[in-house]
Amino acid sequence: MKIFLDTANVDQIREINDWGILQGVTTNPSLVSKEGRCMRDCLEEIATILRGPISAEAMSMDTEGMVREARELAGIAENINVKIPMTAQGLAAVSRLSKEGIKTNVTLVFSTNQALLAAAAGATFVSPFVGRLDDIGNSGMAVVEETVDVFDTYSIKTQVIAASLRHPMHVTEAARAGAHIATIPYDVIVKMIRHPLTDLGIQRFLEDYEKIKDL
Ligand code: G3P
Repeated sequence: MKIFLDTANVDQIREINDWGILQGVTTNPSLVSKEGRCMRDCLEEIATILRGPISAEAMSMDTEGMVREARELAGIAENINVKIPMTAQGLAAVSRLSKEGIKTNVTLVFSTNQALLAAAAGATFVSPFVGRLDDIGNSGMAVVEETVDVFDTYSIKTQVIAASLRHPMHVTEAARAGAHIATIPYDVIVKMIRHPLTDLGIQRFLEDYEKIKDL
């Protein structure tokens, strides 16, 4: 499973990219607005940091508008793919964009049927939102698992991005469900490296080394 960072914060992207584990970034309008900068500036800077896929969201609600925006966003850098919402207009846009060779990430996916339609339209990625389904008492991860299973059955090439992940167990569960990608918020990825026994082990080794280092 590939590790993507779900953020528009360039400092966070630089830091995690330096760990050598980062394979992509996903943004959305809420994440960009937290940074208080315009979408284009933000995307241009992210593209200077990372070679892997970067998702940028189209904001139009009509097909023509989505296609126009997608062409502009994809023109910013060759590794930008365009997030398109899971609507009828969105499917029509995805279908047109896939014929033009513009990569898409169908977002706000909450069911396997939505994912199937997105894949049929030619989406490069689909993003089931796990945490938001959990929030309303459904199992978000069940949708990831079922979607991966159905895509495998029919050898569908569309990649499943487990999105709206809220804590480290979501990442483990996404990996077990067979998600191709997990897009992870910065605070969650930082929690993933920590373990109290690792900290304790380092402390003990340092203390013991103090006893022998001058021998
Ligand atoms: O990748 C989608 C993500 O940004 C949404 O997360 O926590 O707002 O549901 P959340």
